[in-house]
Amino acid sequence: MEKFKPVILDENDAFDYFNLQLVVPNQVYTPSDDTDLSIVFLKKWIQNIDQSPYSLEKSQNIRIFEMGVGSGVLSLYLASRLLQKGYLPEIIGVDINPIAVQTAQFNAELNGLEKYITFYQGEFFSPLINHHNYAPFDFILSNPPYLASEPQIIDQKNRQLIDFAWEGGINGYEVTLAFLEEVSPFLKCPGDFMLISSSNIDQTPIKSHLKKLNIEILEVLSTHKFFEDILLYHGRRIRKIG
Ligand SMILES: C[S@@+](CC[C@H](N)C(=O)[O-])C[C@H]1O[C@@H](n2cnc3c(N)ncnc32)[C@H](O)[C@@H]1O
Repeated sequence: MEKFKPVILDENDAFDYFNLQLVVPNQVYTPSDDTDLSIVFLKKWIQNIDQSPYSLEKSQNIRIFEMGVGSGVLSLYLASRLLQKGYLPEIIGVDINPIAVQTAQFNAELNGLEKYITFYQGEFFSPLINHHNYAPFDFILSNPPYLASEPQIIDQKNRQLIDFAWEGGINGYEVTLAFLEEVSPFLKCPGDFMLISSSNIDQTPIKSHLKKLNIEILEVLSTHKFFEDILLYHGRRIRKIG
């Protein structure tokens, strides 16, 4: 695989996305239909936050974890809109792609949101073990890679960092399941959960894993794109495990 070299990011290349300024280099996922669907949901989630289990004191922190931040767009959106609502976001975002982490950090600074979000390079929750405390989160979200891999085309030698953005494993759901495997100690009860997937892959193992985590699916949003429906699960952990 290619070695990580920081890229040069220039704020003159920024484009507007839901009133956020974003710079996205080639090796980082450009917001797409799945990002748009996530934003539709997050907008509603924030609108209803006063009625949710998060009717916290406004000055209280809302702890959020995002797996697979890419350009940082979803964490940035959450931070900016929660601040507008008078909440204090405390967001941790992780990406396996070091250029995504560099980009997300750059975009956080570009939008003046760097005080509210910390980005780490690593897989799933692993950076928390090295860097941070283990306090669980009010909300965990991810737009993970969810397409079936093509090992005959992409092998270890020609893999690019951007391939992490879409390769979900041989059946498309392996990365999602590996992530779900680690969620339990990090999600509060009550705690909210958002996950993107696709009708193109078998949803049975994903749904049964959510059930095992005591995450009740409250709604499923979808949007049609070419050959698939992009799915968005909004779940809530109501009961603790055990
Ligand atoms: C579909 S992109 C989503 C990016 C962004 N959140 C958005 O909605 O536009 C998926 C992201 O997950 C990252 N990723 C893939 N596997 C990962 C893992 N095991 N741990 C952390 N991040 C991962 C990819 O590098 C990519 O940036």
